[in-house]
Amino acid sequence: MAIRIRNPTLSFPLPILLFFFFSTLLLSTATSSPDPIRARANLLRKQLTDLSYVSSLYAGSSRKLSLETSKQSRLFAQLSQNFSILLSSNPPQDVSRFERDARALISSARALISASKDSFDPQLKIQRLKDAIFAGNEQLTKAKKSGAFSSLIAAKSIPKSLHCLAMKLTAERVARPEKYTDPVQPAPELEDPRLYHYAIFSDNVLAASVVVNSAVKNSKDPSRHIFHVVTDRMNLGAMQVMFRLKDYAGAHIEVKAIEDYKFLNSSYVPVLRQLESANLQRFYFENKLENATKDTTNMKFRNPKYLSMLNHLRFYLPEMYPKLHRILFLDDDVVVQRDLTDLWKIDMDGKVNGAVETCFGSFHRYAQYMNFSHPLIKEKFDPNACGWAYGMNFFDLDAWRKEKCTEQYHYWQNLNENRTLWKLGTLPPGLITFYSTTKPLDKSWHVLGLGYNPSISMEEIKNAAVVHFNGNMKPWLDIAMNQFRPLWAKYVDYDMEFVRRCNFPA
Ligand SMILES: *[C@@H]1O[C@H](CO)[C@@H](O)[C@H](O)[C@H]1NC(C)=O
Ligand SMILES: *[C@@H]1O[C@H](CO)[C@@H](O)[C@H](O)[C@H]1NC(C)=O
Ligand SMILES: *[C@@H]1O[C@H](CO)[C@@H](O)[C@H](O)[C@H]1NC(C)=O
Ligand SMILES: *[C@@H]1O[C@H](CO)[C@@H](O)[C@H](O)[C@H]1NC(C)=O
Ligand SMILES: *[C@@H]1O[C@H](CO)[C@@H](O)[C@H](O)[C@H]1NC(C)=O
Repeated sequence: MAIRIRNPTLSFPLPILLFFFFSTLLLSTATSSPDPIRARANLLRKQLTDLSYVSSLYAGSSRKLSLETSKQSRLFAQLSQNFSILLSSNPPQDVSRFERDARALISSARALISASKDSFDPQLKIQRLKDAIFAGNEQLTKAKKSGAFSSLIAAKSIPKSLHCLAMKLTAERVARPEKYTDPVQPAPELEDPRLYHYAIFSDNVLAASVVVNSAVKNSKDPSRHIFHVVTDRMNLGAMQVMFRLKDYAGAHIEVKAIEDYKFLNSSYVPVLRQLESANLQRFYFENKLENATKDTTNMKFRNPKYLSMLNHLRFYLPEMYPKLHRILFLDDDVVVQRDLTDLWKIDMDGKVNGAVETCFGSFHRYAQYMNFSHPLIKEKFDPNACGWAYGMNFFDLDAWRKEKCTEQYHYWQNLNENRTLWKLGTLPPGLITFYSTTKPLDKSWHVLGLGYNPSISMEEIKNAAVVHFNGNMKPWLDIAMNQFRPLWAKYVDYDMEFVRRCNFPA
């Protein structure tokens, strides 16, 4: 059975899997095992599991690409749900029926993927945005006025190369599972509180690898640094492969999916419960493009990224790492430029969160982040309190446990179910949770704005321990600012075969 490959974005892994699928079907009818029907069903199940994984990968990607693909996004989500339903008939009562259903589903997967191939290339949109932003001299004002909507799309969508990388790595994971499964006994270093631990939560393999590469490269003794990478189920395979492809000079890298943390369920986590609520789902899916272009606030909020569990994991560090006393939280859009071990020597004065403050004049004060017309906010917080930044946060987990910060966060997140306390993001609940327990760090630890502010001084950047590409112009997008992009690009593994094959601009 030959499956023709016409579309380059489809040259992996689905056709490969389909090929395996059909060839194993043929094989299984030819061999006579003691229980042929059962063996055949098992084979089918295994293939369906792989396909289900791939279709959820497409579902997630198409969801991220843009609003216009929301129909496709729904179809892919349906498809992966259909795969799960079929898989959950365990064991299938009627194998020939099961097989018929499986074939139907596979052919609908093929049709859907070939129909949606154009949407997987947002480059055009990004180019248009770039033109809009750089036309004229008032780059940023213009971006803010006319480009707010498109820049949001660009910032949240995955360019083709990134998508390619995730897919190729996933295909590799599916093709050679034995090579990438975790050892039965995890390395003791992963829980050793005497070592330097980092938490990186990301769905972007390339970005996460740059964070790790830069931290390893600049550390004096990499073997004492432990990186805890957590991703979503869709990107788990890709992350597992990415971090096994090379040696990190003795540094340890743990790759997990959110789903590995069983305590993160909707009976415990308010955000999950809120995400699952029918109301919010409707809110996300029923708004049409037309309205979204008019209302950027609403638009921003509709982006699942602003509510996704991956973003809220930062509020569960003590439970995720019960043996550790301290951990450094890094966003996936940062680059480490120095050995960071001096952070572990800072006297935290019993505070929980070490962060750089961001306020100046009347800007970035609490009043900007939350609703001070609300009596509960007004009663508890000072509107002039100085804001601080997420991106590089040093957390004292013992102090966190003692101060019961997670309970605080739950209390407020529950109150905000109808979004009257704050609108979106993790910064407002962070400011609330660590209101009296934040320790300001020297600003040279964490220099912000490389994703939106073209006028940061090179001197400041050079002296920074960590630089942060917060803003829409991420270094992996082609709208990145030319003067800052090399700071990031120098840590990309361009010589890695998977990266090379996806045509990243150097
Ligand atoms: C999923 O299954 C439902 C019910 O059988 C069917 O109506 C729908 O078309 C299927 N969707 C896809 C994308 O296969
Ligand atoms: C949800 O998590 C809590 C702990 O956070 C645990 O006690 C409970 O058993 C979990 N429920 C399910 C259904 O896994
Ligand atoms: C756009 O918003 C208006 C007013 O809120 C609503 O009546 C209309 O149905 C919306 N349009 C779409 C396509 O959702
Ligand atoms: C929002 O939620 C709070 C607490 O859950 C409730 O007291 C309040 O009435 C709600 N407000 C609206 C407008 O629904
Ligand atoms: C702020 O809180 C007040 C009081 O609960 C509420 O009436 C108002 O709608 C809130 N504002 C926003 C933007 O949610």
